Amino acid sequence: MAEPKKLFIKTYGCQMNVYDSERMAEAMGGAGYVETQTPDDADMILLNTCHIREKAAEKVYSELGRFRELKDAKPDLKIGVAGCVAQAEGEEIMRRQPLVDLVVGPQSYHRLPQMEAKVRDGAKALDTDFPLDDKFDTLRKRAKAKRGPTAFLTVQEGCDKFCAFCVVPYTRGAEVSRPADRIIEEARELVDRGVREITLLGQNVNAYHGAGPDGDMTLAGLIWELDKIDGLARIRFTTSHPNDMADDLIEAHGTCAKLMPYLHLPVQSGSDKILKRMNRSHTAESYLRLIERIREARPDILMSGDFIVGFPEETEEDFQATMDLIEEVNYGYAYSFKYSTRPGTPAAERPQVDEEVKSDRLQRLQALITRQQRAAQEAMVGRSVNVLFEKPGRLPGQMVGKSDYLHAVHVTDASIQPGDILPVKIIDSGTNSLSGEVLRRAAE
Ligand code: 5AD
Ligand code: SF4
Repeated sequence: MAEPKKLFIKTYGCQMNVYDSERMAEAMGGAGYVETQTPDDADMILLNTCHIREKAAEKVYSELGRFRELKDAKPDLKIGVAGCVAQAEGEEIMRRQPLVDLVVGPQSYHRLPQMEAKVRDGAKALDTDFPLDDKFDTLRKRAKAKRGPTAFLTVQEGCDKFCAFCVVPYTRGAEVSRPADRIIEEARELVDRGVREITLLGQNVNAYHGAGPDGDMTLAGLIWELDKIDGLARIRFTTSHPNDMADDLIEAHGTCAKLMPYLHLPVQSGSDKILKRMNRSHTAESYLRLIERIREARPDILMSGDFIVGFPEETEEDFQATMDLIEEVNYGYAYSFKYSTRPGTPAAERPQVDEEVKSDRLQRLQALITRQQRAAQEAMVGRSVNVLFEKPGRLPGQMVGKSDYLHAVHVTDASIQPGDILPVKIIDSGTNSLSGEVLRRAAE
């Protein structure tokens, strides 16, 4: 039998790319490839890219440049660019970096094996279509091998919101939801392979409205269907838009025991003037009232958010409004970014904020968020939380897992297996993780 060819995939950006990279590896498995963890012995390298900020896109080109030596040493090596940079820049990538043999947009991964055959014959291959068929349908023949206790599952792609700063509606296209039965089947398969926690993914996941047996299903409807799967212990979802936080979803946070008490709900800014210019269609006040309702349903929920500082025309006063909102919400986690001009988006045309001002605001905002994150983590000391253990830690006998609130937790106990969910008494809070001891073993 011929030696299998080796595929190295490097993934940038969001969790949806992580999921897509797994699907690409499976598709290429059908074309005789096995994955390798290093580009050095690869026959094909795929960069699964992110276009959300300028730096992310530029990283791709500098990474590609580094493959020149590898390609000189091994002329048969094929190099491909996938993901959102591929979608946004298409053929331009091959012009700018002639090392690239293949460019594939996020909606065309099921066509990778045919594209690979084409590049093996010495041609270049480009596919950035938005086909009507569901790529995941074609990619469904998943390997049945056992896998780790947590998994991502994409249920929705694309976005119709057109926030004025964001490239996603252009790179990922319009909102499309996968039919509920396919998702449920995929979730069952994952559970059969050892998965205990599933994170439902979508650029606008709470706008999910996939076909169900009685018409379209909401995200809450889908969560309740997944709740019925024996062996599946935890459900999460990300990323949500405040305007799609429907009543049934808020209620599920209070009533569905498998739905974890953690919600990533980006607001981007606390200034109504900026929110309006961002085309967010909500105000700071409506966001705060929404969080109040969510906390009524699930008082211990840990809130997470995304913030952009230095959006065009953001004044110090606007920035202060964002700081005030953060103080009021009290986040458990948050991600913050300097506004990055994306050509083709409406905000790119507006008067820009100086780079130094952006850096200064980012620093102040991150200091506040770090304080809140630490406080949320430290508040866990003395409590008992359920931990889903995932893998061994660095010390002998140590296991690492995640609490319901998504905090990393270390426990030293040689009897714990990956996939165990155990109550842990939290004893200490470190920089990025908690440590504790198991209260009692679950029934075997
Ligand atoms: N500049 C900076 N941050 C951005 N994001 C999206 N577009 C931009 C941009 N042009 C951030 C938003 C979004 C997260 C995924 O990335 O906060 O929620
Ligand atoms: Fe981008 Fe999210 Fe706004 Fe959609 S809702 S345009 S993905 S920031």
